[in-house]
Amino acid sequence: LCRTRTQTVFSDGREHARVMFIGEAPGESEDRQGVPFVGAAGQLLTDIIQKGMGLARNEVYIANVLKCRPPGNRDPEEEEKALCTPYLDRQIELVNPELILALGLHAARHLLRTPLSMGRLRGKVHAWRGRKVVATYHPAYLLRTPSAKKDCWQDIQLAMRELGLTPPGKAPR
Ligand code: URA
Repeated sequence: LCRTRTQTVFSDGREHARVMFIGEAPGESEDRQGVPFVGAAGQLLTDIIQKGMGLARNEVYIANVLKCRPPGNRDPEEEEKALCTPYLDRQIELVNPELILALGLHAARHLLRTPLSMGRLRGKVHAWRGRKVVATYHPAYLLRTPSAKKDCWQDIQLAMRELGLTPPGKAPR
């Protein structure tokens, strides 16, 4: 992927955040700017963090399974995920979040090493090396399927409860 990407997209946010969001891979805007989740899906994620959770974007940590954009935003390949795994694992260990929100099926299956569907994975608390993991829908999926936002909102509230935080508002629209 380093032959086709503009730059690596490593992370955004606080070094020692309590919450870490993990997405799939950089898209076009992220590849151009070098920052994860800055395109349309990123705007929705920012709304979820700010309006839904009442946190600032720079209070959380945001990363992806892949650090380089797959051409044309195709799905990450197994080999690509395997090559990026040591980076992601080390990122998680260094940030040491209490809770990880896995955004979308790629991130959730990768972290939890499972082939289960999002319907089976979301709505509960899993573990990654002693840290809590909550899986929910990817913001890009929510943009295509707004009816799934209510489930995502429940997952966010579950994550907030696990962190001992009270969500300030209603589900972001
Ligand atoms: N989708 C992702 O999974 N990650 C990004 O950084 C942007 C869009």
